[in-house]
Amino acid sequence: MRTDHQAEPAVGAPGRAATAVAHPNIALIKYWGKRDERLMIPYVDSLSMTLDVLPTTTTVRLDPTARTDSVTLDGSPAEGEVRRRVTDFLELLRERSGCFEPAVVDTRNSVPTGAGLASSASGFAALAMAGAAAYGLDLDRTGLSRLARRGSASASRSLFDGFAICHAGRGAGATADIGSYAEPVPAPDFDPALVVALVDEGAKAVSSRAAMRRTVETSPLYRAWAASSRADLAEMRTALLRGDLDAVGEIAERNALGMHATMLAARPAVRYLSPATVAVLDSVLRLRSDGVPAYATMDAGPNVKVLCHRADAARVAEAVRGAAPGCSVVTARRGPGARLQTGAGW
Ligand code: DP6
Repeated sequence: MRTDHQAEPAVGAPGRAATAVAHPNIALIKYWGKRDERLMIPYVDSLSMTLDVLPTTTTVRLDPTARTDSVTLDGSPAEGEVRRRVTDFLELLRERSGCFEPAVVDTRNSVPTGAGLASSASGFAALAMAGAAAYGLDLDRTGLSRLARRGSASASRSLFDGFAICHAGRGAGATADIGSYAEPVPAPDFDPALVVALVDEGAKAVSSRAAMRRTVETSPLYRAWAASSRADLAEMRTALLRGDLDAVGEIAERNALGMHATMLAARPAVRYLSPATVAVLDSVLRLRSDGVPAYATMDAGPNVKVLCHRADAARVAEAVRGAAPGCSVVTARRGPGARLQTGAGW
């Protein structure tokens, strides 16, 4: 069935639907830790690259005849925490729009859900965009970014093409909420490759949300990392403007390793890095000593993303495959921000 929701937004009418596509983003300066869990306000600013691979496509359709929301993920009903996060987000959309109809949400991920590969970033960016359109919320991209943050703070950055900064904002309550959103960061001459090594596609044992909470509450290294991350961010902006891959890579790698150090020092420790992760990290060091500029970053999972020049991507991919036999490798470039799909429907 085709729904012409884009041609006729028909605010307030039942049965409205919208489909949005969003890509994952990988942080070069990490977001780790919240100062307000309810409003999803980060402690630190973060900066990322939106990818051109592994998109999420989400359709939100209002169903006035339903009694509850229906949520499917890759064709299967979503359960537990995933379902709760989506329905909480729908509640927020209903509160904001004053339209209290349940919704049918269908999400297709081309990235494994919950494996530390930014599926929640692309997922909530697509859900924010499709949901806002279906519920008739009139938001600009900054407003959509702020809204996506309430689903997953990293999602605020997937609204934008290329490089984006998410501001942690200042103050508390409404002031913090208004001040925490993402916006594009200029990097006019910087178009590197990011070689993504999927060393383990299973869901992680500790969610990033639980891990960052534990880190903030118990890690003696957290504050030191947050302070150094602020300095990293300022340097990163200059390096991006210069299009200096070595500087961008060095800053990104130390920022990520520092974030993992804060987790290792949490009580009990959170360790996402597996033997295969370490083998890939070693291969990145070998590439550098062979004169190939390559720099690693890791998120809340064992997978490694390697930043390099596009001309070196095939060699980097080969080195990574050699280090972690059986891993799948995807090469990404900077990609587009979230967008609505016109004329899409079920
Ligand atoms: C390590 O955005 O998944 O990928 O806000 O609780 O949903 P919530 O967490 P999430 O955390 C991402 C953390 C990270 C670093 C980053 O993307 O900046």
